[in-house]
Amino acid sequence: MTSRDRIPLAGVIGSPVAHSKSPRIFRHWLTRFGVRGHYIPMDVAENDLEAAIRALPKLGFVGVNVTIPHKERVLEIADLVTERAELTGSANTLTFRDDGMVHADSTDGCGFMENLRSNAAEWNPAQGPAAILGAGGAARAVIASLLNAGVEEIRLSNRTRTRSENLRREFGARVRVHDWSEAGDMLTGAKTVVNATSLGMAGNDELSVPLGALSGDAVVTDLVYVPLETEFLAQARRTGCQTVDGLGMLLFQAAPGFESWFGIRPHVDDQLRQAVLS
Ligand code: ATR
Repeated sequence: MTSRDRIPLAGVIGSPVAHSKSPRIFRHWLTRFGVRGHYIPMDVAENDLEAAIRALPKLGFVGVNVTIPHKERVLEIADLVTERAELTGSANTLTFRDDGMVHADSTDGCGFMENLRSNAAEWNPAQGPAAILGAGGAARAVIASLLNAGVEEIRLSNRTRTRSENLRREFGARVRVHDWSEAGDMLTGAKTVVNATSLGMAGNDELSVPLGALSGDAVVTDLVYVPLETEFLAQARRTGCQTVDGLGMLLFQAAPGFESWFGIRPHVDDQLRQAVLS
């Protein structure tokens, strides 16, 4: 059998992985575009990660998504790492090239940005400062993409201050660190506000940062998408802010993988949202 006759396989590697919505996204697109292929969730332990990645191309895999807890570790395993994955400090999309090289990319930042731009058409990086709550891996991708889009000032606050300070050191003086106890104050005049913590997710505590200083002309987005409208987004909406939920980021970050593995640029539309939510 030549490699041309092979049914292309893709999937997502994580641990645990059962909760991942990626299979729904990819299966929707595979069906929609009539692509002969499969997308498989794979629970892989840390110790088996490298061997698994090296074996996958031999089994017919053209690429995989990577999720928690392997997104950082795959940068060391990959043969080629894109600049944006380097900057983000993690990769979520691996492509197995014909020459045997494993190519690692991070599409989280572009997923964030495309979600913002397509749901808040008026959003403009030059409008003013951005305020980000949280300084984990997701916040890092958001900071990289906002800086790249041209936002002049990023105010950053995290419960563990040293994590924000590390990001400031890495990304430079356009990032300004605010104490977690004063996170509400940094919202004054912020034109883009992002919850990049896991607070507000079903089963977690609510984000308790006071939103009194939020102005009605801010665009507010949450990376949490379960529930779709977090209490944080609901409060921002009541203040008059335009709000963007986090599901779109998940959908947009998947598109580049589908395109590089199956050769079709897929749509992110309401049908896809419904397929993922159903
Ligand atoms: P991810 O890669 O999704 O960003 P993470 O690196 O575990 O995941 O980051 C989770 C974020 O939520 C962090 O900013 C974390 O704050 P700490 O750095 O202080 O841990 C934040 N977070 C989680 N639980 C929190 C809580 N109860 N109060 C405040 N922040 C919380």
